[in-house]
Amino acid sequence: MNILVTGSRGQLGSELLELSASCRNHRFFFYDLPELDITRSDQVDSLCRDHGIEVIVNCAAYTAVDKAETDSALAFKVNRDASAILAACAKERNALLLHISTDYVFDGTSSTPYRESDPTAPLGVYGISKWEGEECIRQTAPSYIIIRTSWLYSLYGVNFVKTMLRIGAERPELHVVADQIGTPTWAADLAAAIVLIIDRHERGFSYGATLHYSNEGVASWYDFARAVMDLAGISCKVLPIESASYPQIAPRPHYSVMNKSAIKKEWGIEIPYWRDSLAAMLQRLAESGV
Ligand SMILES: NC(=O)c1ccc[n+]([C@@H]2O[C@H](COP(=O)([O-])OP(=O)(O)OC[C@H]3O[C@@H](n4cnc5c(N)ncnc54)[C@H](OP(=O)(O)O)[C@@H]3O)[C@@H](O)[C@H]2O)c1
Repeated sequence: MNILVTGSRGQLGSELLELSASCRNHRFFFYDLPELDITRSDQVDSLCRDHGIEVIVNCAAYTAVDKAETDSALAFKVNRDASAILAACAKERNALLLHISTDYVFDGTSSTPYRESDPTAPLGVYGISKWEGEECIRQTAPSYIIIRTSWLYSLYGVNFVKTMLRIGAERPELHVVADQIGTPTWAADLAAAIVLIIDRHERGFSYGATLHYSNEGVASWYDFARAVMDLAGISCKVLPIESASYPQIAPRPHYSVMNKSAIKKEWGIEIPYWRDSLAAMLQRLAESGV
């Protein structure tokens, strides 16, 4: 299959690029700004035509959750309007659109893991723009898979794990929010799940699904930070605080654990436990010497 990956220099795009080296049965085309701006339908259409694209994996997004509150026009342009552009292109080409969304479409008032069919109620601009992007795809693309994920980290880009490693090396102690509960997800695991889904997807088959994927297990940001320090052998002491003592511009869901039964059952995907994946990522980071 000819596969376009947008936002290819981001965390997930970079993990897909690394994985693509071992996927000899597909031809991948990786693009990011400025060569491909997904808000430009002319660029999207001509690139898909030139490469005979059969699957679009949309890893491009406006992901600055706090900045989105004051930069909403761009957040909606990238997360909502460009999703509509990709969906129209996928429809025109009879291609599969595999799009990534977020746990931030939920308001966090649940106390049990969110299912795909649960009501959404995003709290901030980022979550609303991602939710509206999902809706554009559901309305237009004849063949789509929307994967909602959470708390992504990777060897690449800026993320919580790398920030904890940096701060942990500089300070003797650190306060981290303990009342926001979710699940960390190693972008390399999600990338592997995406490739498996593409392998198993029947070409030209009309299929529309919203699926949840995070690593297994549950953690607070405090648990996550503790695990980073423990596994990396950093002595920085991590202390729990409440969200109220750490004000952020955009509101976040207090609980965003997702139920992953559908993706496991329908696509036969095995999901690693978050702490095991974190250990594997830290190992790879150490080996890479970054
Ligand atoms: N990060 C998380 O914790 C998290 C959690 C849940 C869901 N998600 C979702 O998972 C997906 C992947 O996230 P990620 O962490 O890999 O994101 P990321 O690292 O921020 O990467 C996004 C990439 O998209 C690019 N981009 C932005 N606007 C674009 C445009 N108009 N056209 C083309 N490319 C554009 C960005 O370029 P610039 O850097 O130059 O802007 C960046 O390279 C996104 O859909 C995100 O919403 C992420």
